[in-house]
Order: sequence, then C-alpha cells, then structure tokens
Amino acid sequence: MTEIPEVLERLPGHIYLIGFMGSGKTCTGRGLAQILGRPFVDLDEEIERRAGMPVRDIFARLGELYFRRLESEELKRAAAAERSVIALGGGAFCSPENREVVRSTGTSVWLDVSIETVIARCQREDSRPLFKGQREMEDLLTSRRPAYALADIRIEAEGLTVETVAERIIAALGGRGM
Ligand code: S3P
Repeated sequence: MTEIPEVLERLPGHIYLIGFMGSGKTCTGRGLAQILGRPFVDLDEEIERRAGMPVRDIFARLGELYFRRLESEELKRAAAAERSVIALGGGAFCSPENREVVRSTGTSVWLDVSIETVIARCQREDSRPLFKGQREMEDLLTSRRPAYALADIRIEAEGLTVETVAERIIAALGGRGM
C-alpha cells in the first residue's frame, strides 16, 4: 500500500500525465487516481465521446487539425472540472496553448520510456493513427522531446510496473513540497 504524503492530499490542481504514445499514461493515470482517490480523465476518451468515433476515425475522416481542436477544447473542459488525474494524448503537450492550460491548472508529469518500448506497445494495437514505422517514430519522438522536457517532473518509467511509476510520481510530487 503506497503511503500518501499529507501534502499531496492537499495538492491543489490536477496531475497531468504527459509523454509519447505508448508511455503508459492511461494505465499509470488510472492507478495513480485510484491511490489518490481522485477521478481519472483520459483526454482521448473524452475526445472520442464528444466526436462519437474512435481517434483513428477522427484522423481519417475529419483530419488531424480537427482532432487537435477537439483536444484543446476537451483539455480546457477537463482543466475547469474537479481536481483529477488527467492523461493527455502524446501530442497535446506540444502545443504552447495547451501547455499554458496545464501550467496554470496543475502539475505536469512526463513519463519517459525508450523508443523500443513505445514501438513494442504500439505494434500490439491498431488505435494510433500516427504510429508508422520505427524511423518515423524515432523522428517524431526526437522532435517532441524538447516539449516534453518542459514538464514539471520527469519520471524514467522504462521497465517499471504501473504501481512503481505511481509511487515515484507520488514521491516526486511530495518532494516538491506541494
Ligand atoms: C497522439 C497520441 C494519441 C492520440 C492521437 C495522437 C500523438 O494518444 O492522442 O492518436 O499525437 O502522439 P496516446 O499518447 O495516448 O497514444
């Protein structure tokens, strides 16, 4: 059982999980929310509910720009709601406008995993329209790392269980004296 520092129970604002696709944001977010007794919001699920179709279909039928607009709108909606753990899609934190929403309403936590892990996980599923070959994924991750590095906290999540990642997040948040 993970011990929750008292400061964390009082932590105002949301905890945002950010990072590349396949970095474990959704699984970790669910686990973390459960430990902290907070609601969990998966931004992609909110977008899918709003659009009435899976992310893959939004990209195919309405285009990435449309998806990004929905993503920003749903982020603002989630940010204005009760204190939660919120998992963002892999591209959300790359927009300065979205980063500002995150910065002003909570703490951002980057789950950093290797490109090998990303590829292994994404290959098992068919839900990610931006997932292409290894080379494209390496290039995309390289171009996004500077944005992810702007997160308040970075957790090296490579090879760790959801429980351990959640414990490290809690320790890091507690260590910030929040
Ligand atoms: C995207 C990542 C996906 C989803 C969409 C776009 C991206 O979320 O938002 O396919 O731009 O990296 P996950 O990071 O949860 O896979």
